[in-house]
Amino acid sequence: MKRVIESALCVYSLAVASLAAVAGPAPAPAELPPGPGRNTVVRVCGDCHGVDLIEGRRTRSQWRELVEDMVSRGANASEDDTKAVINYLATALGRVNVNKASESDIETVLELASPEAAAIVSYRTTAGDFKSIDDLKNVPGLDFSKVEAKKDRITFAGQ
Ligand code: HEC
Repeated sequence: MKRVIESALCVYSLAVASLAAVAGPAPAPAELPPGPGRNTVVRVCGDCHGVDLIEGRRTRSQWRELVEDMVSRGANASEDDTKAVINYLATALGRVNVNKASESDIETVLELASPEAAAIVSYRTTAGDFKSIDDLKNVPGLDFSKVEAKKDRITFAGQ
């Protein structure tokens, strides 16, 4: 009887081991920062290549273009998935053109208070485009040290 149990256990553990071999190692946790829509990115964007390919900072339009390219290559994303993915990337891995971006993208990507983001938009509307980070010093009510700390997320040209 003991032998039967032992061999049954043995078969069981072999089965578990081969299952694990088929399933492969658990996928490495993605290096994507937390944020709404992250799970959708992992589900939709991990089909053909690792999500570790998704890195760097881009503007919303640049991310949109990339995601549309991936959808045209066959990424399995509903319209809602596509929106969620673009929103996630535009904020969690976003860069903003302070001369063009929406108030809400400026607020989220640069982690500003909403009146500060509003002040940037209203300043550019009256005074014209910002040419460099120093121009942001002129925006009333904006804590310049906050934008300075996020300067790798700011651009002044492009979409
Ligand atoms: C149907 C397969 C497929 C899916 C699903 C897919 N991709 Fe891709 N992806 C590709 C292929 C193929 C390439 C290589 C394209 C090239 O560079 O020629 C690529 C390349 C990339 C690159 C590197 C090129 C670049 O412009 O930086 C990024 C980033 C990327 N994909 C992001 C994503 C994102 C975000 C998603 C989810 C919306 C996604 N991919 C889903 C097929 C896919």
